[in-house]
Parts: sequence; C-alpha cells; structure tokens
Amino acid sequence: MDLDGFDPQRIPRHVACVMDGNGRWATQRGLARTEGHRAGEEALFDAAQGALELGLEWFTVYAFSTENWRRPAEEVRFLLDVIADRLLTRRRDELHALGVRIRFIGRRDWRVPRWVGRRMDEAAALTAGNTAMTLTVAFNYGGRTEIVDAVRSIVESGIPASKIDERTIARHLYDPSIPDPDLVIRTSGELRISNFLIWELAYSELVFSDVLWPDFRREHLFEAVREFQARDRRFGAATRREGIPG
Ligand code: IPE
Ligand code: IPE
Ligand code: MG
Repeated sequence: MDLDGFDPQRIPRHVACVMDGNGRWATQRGLARTEGHRAGEEALFDAAQGALELGLEWFTVYAFSTENWRRPAEEVRFLLDVIADRLLTRRRDELHALGVRIRFIGRRDWRVPRWVGRRMDEAAALTAGNTAMTLTVAFNYGGRTEIVDAVRSIVESGIPASKIDERTIARHLYDPSIPDPDLVIRTSGELRISNFLIWELAYSELVFSDVLWPDFRREHLFEAVREFQARDRRFGAATRREGIPG
C-alpha cells in the first residue's frame, strides 16, 4: 500500500464511519435499495482492510440506528440479514483471520431478533482475543439512547449526584474501553451526525465525503486520514494539542 504522505506520528487511533448512501447508490442503478446494502457490505470489508493497513487501533461503523426501524419491514429484514448473515458469518472468519476483534455497541432490546443477537455474541466471542484492531459495529445504536442508558445505569449504581462528572458518564457508555473517535467520516454528501456517538465526538474532526457508501474503498479512508492530518486540533487551547487537557 502507498502510505506516502502520511505522518506516522499522527495516525488517528480511532476512526468512526457513518456508512450512508446505499439506497441512492442502488436507485441510481435502477436496482432495489436492498442491493445497495449488499454492495455496502463489500465496501465495509475493504475499508476495514484499509484501516488495518493504516494501523488504526479502533474502527467503528454505524450499521443500523435506533431510527432505522422506521424503514419498510422488508428493508429492515434485509439489513438484518446483511449484518447478521454476511458480515457476522462469512466475513467474521475473514476478519478473524486478519486479527480483528469484533464488538458491538447499541441497545439489545426486543426489536433485535434473537438469532441476530446470537450471531453478534458468537462473532464477539470468536474474535475476543484478537489484537490487530477492534472493529466496533454500532447496531440498534442511537447516541441519545446511549446517554439515556448511561444515566439509568449511573442511577442504578447509586452514585451520588455530586460525584457524577464527565468521566462517570464515559464509564457508563456501551463500551467504555473505546477511546473517543479522532476522526468521523460520513459518506453520501449528507452533512449531519444522525445520532451517531454524540457524546464521544465532542472534539472529533469531521470529514464529509460525497462518495456513496457502496463505492467507498480503502483509498477514500486514506484520503480522509490525510485531511485529518492537515487539521489543527486545539481542544479549546490557543495552539495545537494532542488531547483534551485535565
Ligand atoms: C446507509 O444507507 C445504510 C443504513 C442507514 C442502514 P441508506 O440506506 O441510508 O442509503 P440512502 O441514504 O437512503 O441513500
Ligand atoms: C445514519 O444514516 C444511520 C446509518 C448509517 C446506520 P441514515 O440514512 O439513517 O440517516 P438520515 O436519516 O439520513 O439522517
Ligand atoms: Mg441514508
């Protein structure tokens, strides 16, 4: 791979992606929207390989939001099939062979079919010991729901209000071991966050790409990382900083 032009000292630790544009990609080709989801799975695998080549420690993808249940039942069903059948069964073994640890964030509620939950648990268990990179799949994930769930668990744990600070909240998110994303990429030209990691991305660099997700390849990831490296992160200070102070 051509890693020319990268500053090896400033490779982001954590990149998160809003994989958007599958439906439009398919519609442009006169295909059913579901074909876009099928093609999007290929894009995800290529991007994950690129993330490994870059040496990212954490790569997070938004696969299904708490709002995506509003879509027609057949589309929801197909999306669950793509995620649980293709990604978490076939790709799972390829990702495992590459040393990728697969994890999930999101709410496991009654809407998540039991068989999907089982595939998620199996993929996580199989890959739990891998150390090359962590691929976190945000599934039935909503940033506001995550904060609601964190507040519930803080209240349940009986922590007094005066002892609650930002670290308390961060420790009660779905996976407290994941560092905040350094870079968030959204494809398909939409300029919004759509309820993705809203607590975690407070100081993330945002890159918006016009590429529709099924056309996304590792080169697009590299391009976004180059753009990230040209940014001046200050975290509220007057000059460049490596992280939030304190
Ligand atoms: C992203 O593509 C996949 C999911 C949101 C699950 P979309 O299905 O949102 O595609 P567009 O935005 O309608 O083109
Ligand atoms: C965000 O995309 C969710 C995922 C990529 C899983 P959407 O397509 O659902 O977002 P909106 O509706 O355009 O904001
Ligand atoms: Mg969309």
